Amino acid sequence: MQKIRAAITAVGAYVPDFVMTNAELEKIVDTNDEWITSRTGIKERRILKGEGKGTSDLAVGAIKQIFEKRGIGPEEIDLVICATTTPDFQFPATANVVSDKLGMINAFGYDVNAACSGFLFALTTGSQFIETGRYKKVIVIGADKMSSIIDYEDRATCIIFGDGGGAVLLEPSTDGTGIMDSVLRSDGSGRAHLHQKAGGSVKPATVETVMNKEHFVYQEGQTVFKFAVKNMADVSAEIMERNNLKSDDVAWLVPHQANKRIIDATANRMGLPEEKVMLNIQRYGNTTNGTIPICLSEWESKLHKGDNIVLAAFGGGFTWGATYIKWAYDTK
Ligand code: UT7
Repeated sequence: MQKIRAAITAVGAYVPDFVMTNAELEKIVDTNDEWITSRTGIKERRILKGEGKGTSDLAVGAIKQIFEKRGIGPEEIDLVICATTTPDFQFPATANVVSDKLGMINAFGYDVNAACSGFLFALTTGSQFIETGRYKKVIVIGADKMSSIIDYEDRATCIIFGDGGGAVLLEPSTDGTGIMDSVLRSDGSGRAHLHQKAGGSVKPATVETVMNKEHFVYQEGQTVFKFAVKNMADVSAEIMERNNLKSDDVAWLVPHQANKRIIDATANRMGLPEEKVMLNIQRYGNTTNGTIPICLSEWESKLHKGDNIVLAAFGGGFTWGATYIKWAYDTK
């Protein structure tokens, strides 16, 4: 009997309507469109507005599309894994909030936090539940309301991030398609260069931590850039090598959208022309856990059964990884 693999059988994405352009940011901080475009590739990003709106609302928008495309109901879902760095609450898990909002009453759920690589880590986790044969329908979410932890007076970070989310449905596949392999890595010593200083158990929120802006993203951009550019390229090359994939065999690279220069370096290392690289950073910026599933959703109609696709990410922690997928369906 063919091995059971976990295949992505539907994708969905949701970005909020409000568009924050580089011109808009020029009015708030000392920056300019030329600097942002040349250093990052970003032109605009989306912001989730509205009282009481959180990451779960982005996930809900994405999963509704999955139900519609796949023609299934919420009660059929067995498990929901939500990769996020900006959960609705410290607890309970955002996966549980999403399940409740959508009526996924038969699913258990939990969150995964691996910063920008979270979606890949959650995808690998979700795939294991399918491969054992025990579960049939697993939803993996990648979503972040980054605007909730961004200081819009800090030009080094506010230009990069945006809000958005996506999700995929995993189901068993025995025709040789599905998630083939993944290489996941972490190095906790990298936490010094990219983190949120307060709000956790080490430094709970106080008036002082709020006044000192310690609940926002702290990033040493150049240092993170150097690690990201090397490790995302290395791990992408490694997954190609160990699966005997040559550049011509790869149909698409789906990179985390942190900085166009990091994406270009990864594509170069893999020997891929830019036509094979999914790129929407110019429209959404860095949506952290959202970038990869949003790309998959936007490019879904161009994907064909049997396509070799490499997903790659680098993020806070540090965390990084690459996943090799043989795409499972043609879009009708
Ligand atoms: O997604 C998770 C992981 N995160 C990443 O992968 C992000 C990795 N890092 C980066 O993408 C880049 O480091 C940034 C986009 C964050 C910054 O780009 P950079 O080319 O590394 O710039 P820099 O920090 O070295 O700053 C260069 C100059 C500095 O001025 P001086 O010291 O040369 O006078 C900054 O003060 O640019 C200045 N600068 C800005 N100028 C205009 C920094 N931010 C801005 C800005 N507008 N927004």
